[in-house]
Amino acid sequence: MHMHRLEKAWLTIGVSMLAVFLLVLGVMTFGRGIAPPNEHIHHIDPTKVSETPPFDKPQLTKIGDNLYKAVMVAYAFGYDPQEQMEIPAGATVHFEITSSDVVHGFEIPGTNVNVMVTPGEVSHVSHTFDKPGEYLILCNEYCGIAHEMMKTTLVVK
Ligand code: CUA
Repeated sequence: MHMHRLEKAWLTIGVSMLAVFLLVLGVMTFGRGIAPPNEHIHHIDPTKVSETPPFDKPQLTKIGDNLYKAVMVAYAFGYDPQEQMEIPAGATVHFEITSSDVVHGFEIPGTNVNVMVTPGEVSHVSHTFDKPGEYLILCNEYCGIAHEMMKTTLVVK
């Protein structure tokens, strides 16, 4: 009788531990499964930028009401996309930028946008463009002979 109770106790502990183990395993698997689909990418193989989505197609995309995403690649000496980027006044742009060669800068004078763009990493920065105009995007990290020429523009209408 005494032994029987002890065995039962051990069995209960064993089953409880198994249950906890399965629960933890389940939570881990489930947690991975429900990771946000648009989770920010922070690392990238710098030698495969042109083959790695979304940087295989650098572009400005409308992703919501007054909301845009600008996927850009900095290189010596310029920025992709080559096409003129245009947004309406009041729009917010989420920039995602990486470099396909060396360290560059990404600054939009007159705004809070000023990030370093390092090969192998993806820089994220957002800004709401309330005032219409032509916004200069320029490189403020010395990156070579034509560093001074490295710029593009964003048109806010
Ligand atoms: Cu790119 Cu300076």
